[in-house]
Amino acid sequence: MTDALIVTEQLTKYYGQNLGVADLDLEVREGEIFGFLGPNGAGKTTTIRTLLDFIRPTSGTASVFGLDSHKNSVDINRRIGYLPGELELYKKMTGQELLKYFAALRGGVDWLDVGMLADRLGFDMTKPVKALSSGNKHKLGLIQAFMHRPDLLILDEPTTGLDPLMQQEFYQMLLEAKEKGQTTFISSHILPEVERVCDRVGFIREGRLVEILTVADLKAKAVHRLELVFAANVPQADFAALEGVKDVVVEDNVVRCTVAGGLDAVVKAAAKYEVVNLISHEPNLEDIFMAYYEEGK
Ligand SMILES: Nc1ncnc2c1ncn2[C@@H]1O[C@H](COP(=O)(O)OP(=O)(O)O)[C@@H](O)[C@H]1O
Ligand SMILES: [Mg+2]
Repeated sequence: MTDALIVTEQLTKYYGQNLGVADLDLEVREGEIFGFLGPNGAGKTTTIRTLLDFIRPTSGTASVFGLDSHKNSVDINRRIGYLPGELELYKKMTGQELLKYFAALRGGVDWLDVGMLADRLGFDMTKPVKALSSGNKHKLGLIQAFMHRPDLLILDEPTTGLDPLMQQEFYQMLLEAKEKGQTTFISSHILPEVERVCDRVGFIREGRLVEILTVADLKAKAVHRLELVFAANVPQADFAALEGVKDVVVEDNVVRCTVAGGLDAVVKAAAKYEVVNLISHEPNLEDIFMAYYEEGK
């Protein structure tokens, strides 16, 4: 038994002629927060719905907790907290009634946990669901996903519709879940939203997995924008020839450039002269993300 909680092998789903996902090989490790990133229509929801056995794959397999996602779907679903991308709710019930109903389905939940989650998210349980704003429906969805302390959280675009303050609270909830040993699989189409909490991210595009990277590796691959200020003028040639260095602009004693990968070579080249200041701008992960999608097929 490996420490992988989710394993898909050559997972493929066609909706008639329409491709959902193709040949997806994925492993989500126990205890990690895994970000599943891709633009709309990439196949994120299809993958998730297959894991939960809401739809059957055309070919390939999926397992969760080492169990077959179809044959053992009841056992699997008991241990999962799931936030669907689009939540269908019984509109006549109040939030509290609905949460009690979900709790009963899961064989009982500590109601203190529910109250605490509602407090954190500022959710009013007494209102009928039909009177809730979309943001509040989303909170209800989060509460039901977290309330039974599931081993695995599967969250389909969970930050959509949350205001920035609530997003912070939500990230905090994720990190706390991780501390408790829970595993999270979170889909998103916005990288900066999830990269700060994720351990690894997988990029999916047009139904196919592009790459899986740790967030640390992702940052190492990133392009830095660098500004070096020297005590005197420096020759452009010293910097333009360096590997991974591009867009070198020299204005008197200031050098600006972009650097892919490590900064070591540039720093060493700069050290030949008297350096007054060195400013490195945080790599823009959105740029890397876009680069993956623009590379073409
Ligand atoms: N029920 C369906 N019938 C036909 N095509 C579908 C259905 N659900 C999804 N698709 C198609 O599968 C592809 C992947 O969709 P989806 O998994 O929802 O992407 P994502 O969640 O990443 O936005 C899209 O091209 C979408 O149009
Ligand atoms: Mg989706």
